[in-house]
Amino acid sequence: MNSVKIGDIKIKNPIALSPMAGISSLPFRIICNEMGAGYCPTELVSARSIRYNGVGKSMRYMRISPEEEGITAIQLFGSEPDDFKAAIETILDTPVLKEVSIIDINMGCPVPKVVKTGSGSALMEDPARAAAIVKACKRTLENVCPNIPVTVKTRTGYNAEDNGKPDFAKALADAGCDMLCVHGRTRPQMYHGESSNQAIAVMREAVRDYKIPFFANGDICDTASAKRIIEETGCDGIMIGRAARGNPWVFEQVIAGLAGNGEPKYPDADEKKLMLMRELEGRMKYLPEEVAVREFRSVMPFYIKGLTGSAQIKVKLCSATGIEEIKEILGIV
Ligand SMILES: Cc1cc2nc3c(=O)[nH]c(=O)nc-3n(C[C@H](O)[C@H](O)[C@H](O)COP(=O)(O)O)c2cc1C
Repeated sequence: MNSVKIGDIKIKNPIALSPMAGISSLPFRIICNEMGAGYCPTELVSARSIRYNGVGKSMRYMRISPEEEGITAIQLFGSEPDDFKAAIETILDTPVLKEVSIIDINMGCPVPKVVKTGSGSALMEDPARAAAIVKACKRTLENVCPNIPVTVKTRTGYNAEDNGKPDFAKALADAGCDMLCVHGRTRPQMYHGESSNQAIAVMREAVRDYKIPFFANGDICDTASAKRIIEETGCDGIMIGRAARGNPWVFEQVIAGLAGNGEPKYPDADEKKLMLMRELEGRMKYLPEEVAVREFRSVMPFYIKGLTGSAQIKVKLCSATGIEEIKEILGIV
């Protein structure tokens, strides 16, 4: 794949981590960056909450480390342009956060709690509002940090019968969005069924003349699926989500595979366990042990998938309460 610039920002690889709530922790993003991911956005954070409560409550989700991550991106969700304006002003007023490289807007979340507020994928039904949000973000940044691009991540439709939303994509590009990423599922599909490369291609074509990078996302898990989505959509870059959970090596694999270099050796059981511990210890730098372990319970099974005795290990890990207990379960001395 060719190298890609988002606004003026050159990313080292057009293969990025797709933002995932509960998964895209700072330590995980640092690991994915080391594995070659071009950049790794935070999970979605409420623009309204930042506006009215400040960064306090949201900090743990949007904590970034430019030194360790390279290019950073904070993903915001909301439905009111003024909430985004205020949230960005607050971010730019906060140490470290103000060094963020990219602001990403979530226009794809299908979760009812988000959709019923007019946010996430609901914005696909209101292109004028979506465009106003992009414009508000651009305007706010233009005054202080014009070099921070505004990107959007969305889906191929709001309704089951949608097969790509070309006019929506154009409205975002017209509003000044600097990069568009499309996940090939509609809102009602949530994360089920197949992601449609054909529907992504419809949106890709709609914005081809705008010369902004276009990323495709959905069901990429190895070199073959990466090649397929690139060929079938004509995208400039890809985002990998679920396949990276407990498997940050997927970036090394796909990057090498696409470059035709042959895929690196797959990690053995010990490497996987050590990576699990590294991510957990990373989470413990900013969360109390008990909370870090509890929240990591849903992630640990991905690391041990396929290992001998993984079913029993998983059951034990899911009730573990401390790091020493986890080490014992994994047989790490
Ligand atoms: C647990 C989970 C949390 C997610 N959270 C977000 C999120 O915060 N922001 C976002 O844009 N997409 C989110 N997504 C969607 C993913 O970024 C991605 O678009 C989707 O999983 C399809 O890509 P994949 O097939 O590579 O997983 C989430 C997906 C999952 C499974």
